Amino acid sequence: MCGIVGYVGERNVTPLLLESLEKLEYRGYDSAGIALVSVKGIKIQKTRGRIADLRKIVEDSGESECTVGIGHTRWATHGEPSDVNSHPHLSRSGRVAVVHNGIIENYIELRAFLSTHGYSFSTETDSEVVSELIDFCYAGDPVAAVRKAELQLKGSYALGIIFADFPEQIIATRKDSPLIIGVGENENFIASDIPAILKYTRDVFRLDERELAILSKKRVAVFNELGERVDHAIEHIEWDATAAEKGGYPHFMIKEIMEQPEAISKTIAPRIDAEGNILLGFKSISDDDLKNIDSIRITACGSAYHVGVVAKHLLKNWLNIPVSAELASEFRYDDPIVNERTLVIVVSQSGETLDTLYALREAKNKGARTISIVNVVASSIANESEEVLYTWAGPEISVATTKAYSTQLVLIELLGIRMAQLRGRMDDEQGKALVSAIKSIPTGIEEILKDVQTVQYVASLYFNSQSVFFLGRNIDYALSLEASLKLKEISYIHSEAYAAGELKHGTISLIEEGTLVIALCTYRPLLDKMISNIKEVKARGAKVIAIINNDDVQTGTVADHIIRIPACEQIAVPSLTIVPLQLFAYYIASLKGCDIDKPRNLAKSVTVE
Ligand code: G6P
Repeated sequence: MCGIVGYVGERNVTPLLLESLEKLEYRGYDSAGIALVSVKGIKIQKTRGRIADLRKIVEDSGESECTVGIGHTRWATHGEPSDVNSHPHLSRSGRVAVVHNGIIENYIELRAFLSTHGYSFSTETDSEVVSELIDFCYAGDPVAAVRKAELQLKGSYALGIIFADFPEQIIATRKDSPLIIGVGENENFIASDIPAILKYTRDVFRLDERELAILSKKRVAVFNELGERVDHAIEHIEWDATAAEKGGYPHFMIKEIMEQPEAISKTIAPRIDAEGNILLGFKSISDDDLKNIDSIRITACGSAYHVGVVAKHLLKNWLNIPVSAELASEFRYDDPIVNERTLVIVVSQSGETLDTLYALREAKNKGARTISIVNVVASSIANESEEVLYTWAGPEISVATTKAYSTQLVLIELLGIRMAQLRGRMDDEQGKALVSAIKSIPTGIEEILKDVQTVQYVASLYFNSQSVFFLGRNIDYALSLEASLKLKEISYIHSEAYAAGELKHGTISLIEEGTLVIALCTYRPLLDKMISNIKEVKARGAKVIAIINNDDVQTGTVADHIIRIPACEQIAVPSLTIVPLQLFAYYIASLKGCDIDKPRNLAKSVTVE
């Protein structure tokens, strides 16, 4: 989703902004621009297309030495990707330039209001109204103008703002959209995400809701909504800049697939003691609270939601209470019936997905207990949930998530097991046996990753497919959802995941000679049913790739190709099964020459509805 960077210091800002914007490319974007401010005024350069296109425009126009500026990558919401709709937006007066991430929901009203005061608009965006509104509110004091304008803004925003009259400062503010501040020596930064500025500083903090920061070369002053000065503790980023680089791999996605064993080990290590006991480390939610929970609702978006669909099967069985998995965008508007005995688990890699954040708030407002599973430390969802369990997957750059999914899955399993132990549904030994099986997952995944040839081979046979169907039952169906999403999002091949038993109710009419069906056959209790479903699609001409358990001797006799997962305990099966399916999507997309890490129209962190 849109990316923001800003710099005030002593360096030549243009190359710095372009380089920082490149580091945000992974978020997904369709246009880019920069605004520089000096005593000569504000200069804007922007274009539809890639940063490389912007770089060319900047170079063709000749270097301009400037030390303060803001930059933006836009992911179109209001108005098509075009030069004029790109950010930064400069007020017609030339006094104020703005970069915006989020959506201004009342922009039509604000446009009408400003039009009655002689303002006019040249873009189709909601964001243009921000620069004009601040301009309208401006009477010589930039902070007063921004604060006055904010009172009228509805929706979500992270803003980087420069004023022609104050060429040595940037103002930043946010509501429901993330923004970090980077602190350096004689230089300071704003950015949507850490990788953008990691080359220049490792000292950062997150701006809290409705805080406003004034950045100049020498200092960053932060104020809360009441205008009181706020001091933030600086977080020193430990991870190396190379953690956000490809490290010799052709794409971030394959690098992150390969990192899964380590990411899982790092995620579970702090949660399991030497005796195999699970440590949740909660402060607000007590063991008694967890014993009293009478239903669980897991809510999230995208792949994080798919983690919830797998977990719902496991947790329901372990706890013997109703457990549901719900899309956050539905949950938040569905007037959910929850109370203090409902546990709402929100899952999010970024911790900033707007629908997930709002679902969390809805649950909290209605009195539910809330636990989040989040990768980005101190992100909005982590901060706002009662308890947070962090996945330690490290920065995930590829839009198509892999290691975040895998780490979320093991962490929610540990939470479920601990709850089952507390509630007397699982004795110590049973719990420890499951924990020990979870600890073996990294080794199982390593085994899969050592030998990717079979997956590569089947991918080479089917990369020209027009349409692919994924079938599974129970947990295998939950995994199919993720496998199908993975394939379609990066390869642009139409794919659908179907609960295998539902196939006959319509979808089977789409199966014809040569249609590729991927059958997930690792859920042992329903293997016979899956074999029947494979026969049904084979009878109609389908080609079938089956993902099977190591000891399965039946499925290979009906499927065209089989991919075996290594022998493992039942609880490890989902974590292992998803890996060849991630690889399959990756190799297909690679053979098709797709832009794997930055698929069209997609964004890594979806901070708008
Ligand atoms: C986007 C990403 C997905 C991700 C989803 C939820 O659609 O492309 O990979 O699963 O958002 O993101 P979150 O950060 O909340 O896990």
